[in-house]
Amino acid sequence: MRAMTLEDVDEVLRIEQAVQAYPWTRGNFVDALNQGYMCRVEEADGEIRGYTILMPVLEEAELLNIGVAAWRQRKGLGRAMLLDMLDVACKRNMLRVFLEVRSSNVAALALYRSAGFREIGLRRDYYQNANGSEDAITMACDLVGEING
Ligand SMILES: CC(C)(COP(=O)(O)OP(=O)(O)OC[C@H]1O[C@@H](n2cnc3c(N)ncnc32)[C@H](O)[C@@H]1OP(=O)(O)O)[C@@H](O)C(=O)NCCC(=O)NCCS
Repeated sequence: MRAMTLEDVDEVLRIEQAVQAYPWTRGNFVDALNQGYMCRVEEADGEIRGYTILMPVLEEAELLNIGVAAWRQRKGLGRAMLLDMLDVACKRNMLRVFLEVRSSNVAALALYRSAGFREIGLRRDYYQNANGSEDAITMACDLVGEING
């Protein structure tokens, strides 16, 4: 894992467009980098396989995006990237990471639960989808307990 740079955006965007039902735009990734968010990529053999975007807000942070290339999914990479992201956040003295996830995204929900996130709330009809709307599940992970405990 390493920090994402502007040069990585084309490759990250290709993965994003292939794996996300509602993909971020190039501008979203460039903005995240320019805002100084914690943007990281997993690279092997000169190829990016996944990425995470974390937005710090004082002592807390929000996971804005995570994606793994389709051919690399279900091999433990998503969990490894998530734990790397939590480790980096912990080393920056953050106390808690939040995220929101579509209630239909069973893969992401299972991943987050397996990495120590717990459900703390529900926002009804938060996301648009093909059927109109769907709920967002809000999750949190306390870093002191999860990483140091
Ligand atoms: C969600 C995502 C990042 C998971 O990455 P991954 O590398 O495939 O996940 P891992 O192999 O590390 O799996 C970790 C755990 O997550 C769960 N999981 C992952 N994919 C799953 C799936 N398709 N169905 C059910 N559970 C799944 C499992 O509990 C898994 O543990 P296990 O393999 O021991 O059973 C990946 O599916 C992805 O990029 N999806 C599209 C983008 C997305 O939805 N991002 C989240 C919202 S921004």
